Amino acid sequence: MKILVLTGSPHKKGTTALLADEYCQAAEEAGHTVHRFNTAFMQIQPCTGCDHCRKSDDSDCIFRDDMQNILPHLLDADAVVLVSPLYYFAFTAQLKNVVDRFYEVNDKLQKNPKQLQMIVAGADTDEWAMDGVKAHYQCLCRYLNWEDRGMVLAYGCGTREEAKQSKYVKEVTKLVQNL
Ligand SMILES: Cc1cc2nc3c(=O)[nH]c(=O)nc-3n(C[C@H](O)[C@H](O)[C@H](O)COP(=O)(O)O)c2cc1C
Repeated sequence: MKILVLTGSPHKKGTTALLADEYCQAAEEAGHTVHRFNTAFMQIQPCTGCDHCRKSDDSDCIFRDDMQNILPHLLDADAVVLVSPLYYFAFTAQLKNVVDRFYEVNDKLQKNPKQLQMIVAGADTDEWAMDGVKAHYQCLCRYLNWEDRGMVLAYGCGTREEAKQSKYVKEVTKLVQNL
């Protein structure tokens, strides 16, 4: 299976980098092909809603940026995994930026069912802390006609160290088995 992993943290060695590393290693060990893009380190313009990409079937985005590296893998992937720290109860802006740029290929994505998974880590331990990001993920699955293949919501993981000592390291490797 071809898996596209999109991470959203600006920390190269942070909490979600650790969880993404564990996930990718487990996925490769299980025989999957993994393409990972750390979106916070890419040059990707935010969608301006100009609708140029919707003028005709051949029209594409006005921006020639790093999204062009992601798009072929996005279209080709059997599964997409969104990985992000929780920022004010949502994905980071960096990851949302990439999801907004799905707009260019929206029709193709809707007609090309994929599996979706999500890994989010945050410092909070309140049981409601992940409700917003969970709802967003579920709307994405529903709108894109993608299959929800599970998520790991890592509560109480404000640092890499906390994540390392948590049950979530094992949980992300188990997530691979849901594909
Ligand atoms: C701008 C900002 C907003 C944050 N918002 C939340 C939040 O709403 N809930 C939460 O539990 N943690 C929040 N955090 C904490 C991070 O999610 C947490 O430290 C996470 O482990 C960082 O992951 P990373 O190292 O992969 O970037 C926030 C951190 C920052 C910098």
